[in-house]
Amino acid sequence: MTYAQLYGQRRDDPEGFWLAAAGAIDWVKQPGHALNASRAPLYEWFTDAEVNTCWNAVDRHVAAGRGDQPAIIHDSPVTGTKHVITYAELLDRVSRLAGALKAKGIQKGDRVIIYMPMVPEALEAMLACARLGAIHSVVFGGFAAAELAVRIDDCTPKAIIAASCGIEPSRVVHYKPLLDAAIDLADHKPDFCVIFQREQEVAKLTPGRDVAWHEFQYGVTPADCTPVEGNHPAYILYTSGTTGAPKGVVRPTAGHLVALNWTMRAIYNVGAGDVFWAASDVGWVVGHSYICYAPLIAGCTTVVYEGKPVGTPDAAAFWRVISEHNVRSFFTAPTALRAIKRDDPEGKLVNRYPMPNLQALFLAGERADPDTIHWAQQHLNIPVIDHWWQTETGYAIAANPLGIEQLPVKIGSPSVAMPGFDVQVLDEGGHPVSAGTLGAIAIKLPLPPGTLPTLWNAEDRFIKSYLSHFPGFYETGDAGYIDADGYLYIMARTDDVINVAGHRLSTGAMEEVLAAHRDVAECAVIGVADDLKGQSPLGFLCLNKGCLRDHADVVKECVTLVREKIGPVADFKRAVVVDRLPKTRSGKILRGTMVKIADNQPWKMPATIDDPAILDEITVALQSLGLARG
Ligand code: COA
Ligand code: AMP
Repeated sequence: MTYAQLYGQRRDDPEGFWLAAAGAIDWVKQPGHALNASRAPLYEWFTDAEVNTCWNAVDRHVAAGRGDQPAIIHDSPVTGTKHVITYAELLDRVSRLAGALKAKGIQKGDRVIIYMPMVPEALEAMLACARLGAIHSVVFGGFAAAELAVRIDDCTPKAIIAASCGIEPSRVVHYKPLLDAAIDLADHKPDFCVIFQREQEVAKLTPGRDVAWHEFQYGVTPADCTPVEGNHPAYILYTSGTTGAPKGVVRPTAGHLVALNWTMRAIYNVGAGDVFWAASDVGWVVGHSYICYAPLIAGCTTVVYEGKPVGTPDAAAFWRVISEHNVRSFFTAPTALRAIKRDDPEGKLVNRYPMPNLQALFLAGERADPDTIHWAQQHLNIPVIDHWWQTETGYAIAANPLGIEQLPVKIGSPSVAMPGFDVQVLDEGGHPVSAGTLGAIAIKLPLPPGTLPTLWNAEDRFIKSYLSHFPGFYETGDAGYIDADGYLYIMARTDDVINVAGHRLSTGAMEEVLAAHRDVAECAVIGVADDLKGQSPLGFLCLNKGCLRDHADVVKECVTLVREKIGPVADFKRAVVVDRLPKTRSGKILRGTMVKIADNQPWKMPATIDDPAILDEITVALQSLGLARG
């Protein structure tokens, strides 16, 4: 069947299409129907079914006789270790961990925060929660204590599972003191914390609250899988929005299983026994979907890589992992490839390791620039497939579906909409625009299975953020166009979200931190173009009247403050003091114009600007940082 036929089949018979896809999942109670539109425009899928995610990701493969197949390969250049866990071992480890959590009172519906680096135990913690029907929320290790505290207060976990430390090439990340500080800051307190002690740093446990990973599992009865309803939340994953308060994206259990399993063959063209590697982090949606759940649901072997694209030890690290573990489909962010290309522009290191099994390279998380795609195509000599998705959707909205039909690649486009996503480009009034015209990218409701049904504890915010601007559509927050062949082009965000090294960050959140500095009267943060990371945050600070402090000192304190409050992942390293910010007459800061000036893009004087002279001052400030050099 061709892509066009499949897309049409889904459009003409969505129930039949998704119920057929559901046939690949083991159900406790089969779904009688796919879509539940009883609360439209809030839609849910497979609500009358019962299922367990862990059974589908682990137990069923052992039951099918594939217990000896590797489930997880942990490859950790930062610790110099490699470790293989078979499906049978994974079942044993996960059911014991789940048993220990159950013995401490964790039940279906309880929230559990997971704060861990790239170790197999992170996946085991996720799967143990899924086994019990507990709702996990994984927090990325690069976030600071205050960000962890916000998430603790929002999802009120009964337990937190953390590691003693993470390892960055330049330093040990002390997870335990960050965890302790976050619990101190938060109003909500977990009943207990489980600490996975790593040999690189053993953390001090808090008596009465903390239990050690191994000790806590000693002698417990392994737990069986708890069936949950199809719309039971599998997890909450916080992502950046316009304001400082992160959005808790809810992932529904059954749709997640059906959709992820479908993508493994249709998009990535892999199946049981194949090795799949997504070089991301379990703290991001890519890590949830394609390091943990999808490869295991499909019975693949997943690679958990604790290292970087460069420097651990060199720019051949990815090629070594692919070669050594016989990876068939590989997924990374364009930033990682740019880092490799920068160290190895002629691709000499690519040939160091034979990669006969590698069929395709998938890119997502940020715009894939043509130079990077060309470099990868030239040196790897395999299809390089850009695909577009969001934390909210959990899998690709647009892709080139390798397992259905490889469509011609158009560089600069993540190709075409996947079945179930009716992607349209709209003007401000919500009317579809013609091919090639730029507009807001929206998806006609209902979204397909597995996508977010709501935000945790914030249904009003869900409706306001995504469903209100264009009634009948989900607003993606991305702008772009569709060409005459139906190929999508993602050009920019329409909100205050920026993308730094494939990490989604809120400039609004950084502004909230800067505004709290005692000398800052007003501020703005923009994302300026960066050759390596795609975008890089830059702050503009207006100081309080009468503040005579050295500007360099204030800037330094502001940089430290963002690192302390949001975390190193914000990568906030540059700020400049200015007298005034450019605004419209109604007081809206002209961030878009500042970005264009910084990036040397053509720009027009906004008709609504209050005082055009301020833009000259901004240009001078940008030039002092080596930007806006025209
Ligand atoms: N825990 C703690 N700190 C972390 C972290 C983690 N898991 N991940 C990153 N950080 C820290 C880094 O140590 C760095 O701190 P520093 O300011 O002290 O140097 C900071 O966060 C920024 O990190 P990063 O964006 O990784 O930049 P880098 O300069 O260290 O590395 C690259 C550059 C290109 C190698 C790196 O950005 C990279 O691997 N990018 C690909 C990211 C990716 O796969 N994204 C996919 C998301 S789907
Ligand atoms: P996240 O929720 O962290 O996955 O970030 C989602 C956002 O990253 C999207 O809304 C886009 O702005 C951007 N993005 C993801 N993939 C792509 C892509 N292939 N091309 C362009 N932008 C992308």
